[in-house]
Order: sequence, then structure tokens, then C-alpha cells
Amino acid sequence: MAAAISIRNVSRRFGDNWALRPVDLEIAAGELIALVGPSGCGKTTMLRIVADLQEPTTGEVRIGADSASEARRKRLLGLVSQRPAVLPWKRAIDDVRFTQKIAGRVGFDPATVLREFGLEGHETKRARELSGGMLQRVNIASAMAHDPSVLLMDEPFAALDEMKREEIGEWFDRELATRPKTVLFVTHHIDEAVMLADRLLVFSPAPGRVLEVVSVPVPRPRDAAFRQDPRFVAIAAHVRSLLAQQVEAA
Ligand SMILES: Nc1ncnc2c1ncn2[C@@H]1O[C@H](COP(=O)(O)OP(=O)(O)OP(=O)(O)O)[C@@H](O)[C@H]1O
Ligand SMILES: [Mg+2]
Repeated sequence: MAAAISIRNVSRRFGDNWALRPVDLEIAAGELIALVGPSGCGKTTMLRIVADLQEPTTGEVRIGADSASEARRKRLLGLVSQRPAVLPWKRAIDDVRFTQKIAGRVGFDPATVLREFGLEGHETKRARELSGGMLQRVNIASAMAHDPSVLLMDEPFAALDEMKREEIGEWFDRELATRPKTVLFVTHHIDEAVMLADRLLVFSPAPGRVLEVVSVPVPRPRDAAFRQDPRFVAIAAHVRSLLAQQVEAA
């Protein structure tokens, strides 16, 4: 069977500057891959290439049997961008419906999706009337509303405080257990990455290249207690040391 996402020799240069050194990765269906690394190492660039919002300089991306552009045309992808464009007057339910309209596919009933995302009673509230955490859940609900097989998320929880961030991360992990998706998840937060991911792509500082692919061989979803698990602690420490070595070497 074809990999859910296949990234083959994908790199990107802007003018004379490399934003991303060649990356090779085969991602299985249902896997969650975290991209971690310092600012400017090419994480968003990687995601945008998979989303077909940017051309790679070398290499190609396949989403199952499709090219990235075919996958985009078929609306196989859901994107939560680093800077979501939220219209303050837009109602939560309309935001979800809008995705479905664009996709030409109603994956899930919008009210049901919002309810399952803990937003019951808030469906008709406008973006400006929601808290940051609620808004983030609306963003994710909208990205998933048409039931894409692949979810691309660029620092989706970055705007949340630490407690909320942990809570929403655990919620999201459980959510994926109900609706499995193949996920690329960009984060600066090492603990969050280890908590959520099956594998972490650890990038060097710019021009980004993959230093190591670190596996977290523990079944998902994982609960809060996993943060105290010796495996969690060891993997997080290993990722920190990989990133710190790079800072020293720079
Ligand atoms: N459209 C563009 N034109 C020129 N340079 C770009 C463009 N997009 C990104 N870059 C450059 O490519 C490099 C990688 O950018 P990218 O946004 O992928 O980093 P990132 O890892 O997502 O960083 P952050 O963690 O800060 O979001 C940066 O040096 C950036 O300035
Ligand atoms: Mg970025």
C-alpha cells in the first residue's frame, strides 16, 4: 500500500537562500508527525509544500496515489495555518460550513462537530465573542469539517496558555482516536511534540535539514500521566540535547 504521505527529496530555495534542505520521509496512514526546530528552519515551508501552496525546488510530495496538487483539488487536506485569518464577526458554525462549501463535501454535520469539540451552546457566537482556546477549536473543527484524510497544522496551540495548551492537546489526541487522520504538526514545544507524535522530525537551524527522526513508540492517545513516564522524559531530553548541540555549534 502507498504511504499516506510520501516526501521525496523535497527542498526549497528562495533566491540564493535555502529554506529547507532535502527531506525524505514516508508517513503511514494515521501517523502524527511533529516538526520541531528553531524559528526559520523551514517548518512552515515544508507544510506549505505538502499543502501545494508552494512549489518545492527539488523533489515531490505524494498524498497516497495523488500528487500534492491533485490532493489539493480533491480536498484531501485540512490546513490549520500559523496565522489563521479569523473574521471577528464570523459565527463559529458558519466558519465550519464555509470549509465544507469550499470543499464541496459535507464530511460531518457542523453542529455535531462543534459539539464534539466542546463548543455546544457557542455555535452561533461570533469569533470576537469566543476565548482564544475556543477559537482555536473552531479553527481545527473547520479544518476537519470536510473529513480530510490529511491534517496539516502549523503551531495550532501556540496562542494558548500552558494549562489550556496541555488540555487541548490531550483533547485533540482523543479526537484523532475517533477520527483517525494522518497529521503533520508543527510546534516549538518539545513536550507537546513528544506527547502527541508518533515520530518527531527534528530540524537544524536554518537552512533546515532533518537532524534526526525520533520515534515515540507508545500507543496514542496518551493521557496526562505520560508526562511523568520515564520514556517521555528520556525522549524529550534527547530532543532538547539535539537542538542544544546545534545552538552550540552555530
Ligand atoms: N515566500 C518567501 N520568500 C522568501 N523567503 C521565504 C519565504 N517563505 C519563507 N522564507 C524564508 O525561508 C526560511 C524558512 O521559513 P519558514 O517560515 O519555513 O520557517 P519556520 O521554521 O516555519 O519558522 P517559524 O518557527 O518562525 O515559524 C526563512 O528564512 C524565511 O525567511
Ligand atoms: Mg512557521
